[in-house]
Amino acid sequence: MPNRLIIKNAAQLVTCSGFAAKPGAAMADLGIIEDGALIAEEGIIRAVGSTDRILDGVDLQASTVLDASGKAVLPGFVDSHTHFPFAGYRPEEYGWRLAGMRYMEIMERGGGIVNTMAATRKAGRQELIELGRRRLDAMLAMGVTTVEGKSGYGLDMETEIKQLEVMAALNADHPMDIVATFLGAHAVPPEYEGRSDDYIDFIIGEVLPVVSERRLAQCCDVFCEKGVFTPAQSRRLLLAAQRHGLQLKLHADEIVSLGGAELAAEVGALSADHLLQATDAGMDAMARAGVVTTLLPATAFSLKEPYARAREMIRRECAVALATDFNPGSSFTFSVPLIAALAALHLELTPEEIVSALTINGAAALGRANQVGSLDVGKAADIIVLEYPSYRFISYHLGVNIVQKVIKGGRVVVEN
Ligand code: NIG
Ligand code: FE
Repeated sequence: MPNRLIIKNAAQLVTCSGFAAKPGAAMADLGIIEDGALIAEEGIIRAVGSTDRILDGVDLQASTVLDASGKAVLPGFVDSHTHFPFAGYRPEEYGWRLAGMRYMEIMERGGGIVNTMAATRKAGRQELIELGRRRLDAMLAMGVTTVEGKSGYGLDMETEIKQLEVMAALNADHPMDIVATFLGAHAVPPEYEGRSDDYIDFIIGEVLPVVSERRLAQCCDVFCEKGVFTPAQSRRLLLAAQRHGLQLKLHADEIVSLGGAELAAEVGALSADHLLQATDAGMDAMARAGVVTTLLPATAFSLKEPYARAREMIRRECAVALATDFNPGSSFTFSVPLIAALAALHLELTPEEIVSALTINGAAALGRANQVGSLDVGKAADIIVLEYPSYRFISYHLGVNIVQKVIKGGRVVVEN
């Protein structure tokens, strides 16, 4: 008898059905089934439909049966942009920012990313694993079932590899699915001050081959920003990573419009992220190239920067994803409820677009739209059950976690 899970009588089964990113107006389509049911076997979704139709003739004995009457059921959320494996915190910098100092000013004065780099270099592997585990537990409780995590707080061979190994260890023994991204080009470390080209050479020539050889990362990312890495340096690194078989992501057009969006389209990146300053031409280029535009509203909120032009992106047929950007500097939060609230109130996304952005489009931003991000037959049974009968409560119940149950691979892993 297979290990079988049955969910029945869901007020809404919000399938988000699809196997690719949903661009533009398609983001409004959530594929909702009322009085819905779902059958999963061995962790894979086997049937989806109305309760009458799906359960007709099915033997409920020997199955785990969840009655979701009065509740909305959705795919698990995908948080497609975080920097979760780090040590050390920066509350004093947050205080300076509140007093008016700019994020880039702190970085120019030797704070910011290199501050966390120092703490992460010092931290032991086991310490990073335990920090990571606690963070993943909290994310899972908010309904996140797939998370991306970046290196980028080592900025040397040993620590970049350590961060990636920590993610591999957690991926093996935590219910969360982790997609690891190599972000060696997150900042120029003190050892290479004033020699950013040499640092890119080091990343390409020495670190990248090890990352790729040991299959420690699925994606490669770069902080393409004024005062960090230029588009030319970013292109050089990304094309090298592509030759090593990695998929590409960019921190693009966050503070200054540098052409990061256009570069993402040119190199065929999975996603370009931040995009606060992306131009109309950049948006069109990303839409044409099928680059997911990942928006991180908690970062704009925390940095008091203007929000990304989400409505314009959707009008121009971009596929928008939402993520937390969890990190100890610009966005010290992994709260999905906060992201949903900011997306509604400041990005002006509709409740439907917010759900697509947190599920199927997040999955596409990780190259996993075939495996997760929707309740479709053949996908992983990564499922959340809300306390309320409609997905609309996700962005309406401000800052409150309304996820009652989290199911990962067909198994209930959280009961709130
Ligand atoms: O996505 N912008 C660059 N990287 C992170 C911030 C990292 C940090 O401040 O530690 C971001 O916002
Ligand atoms: Fe980031």
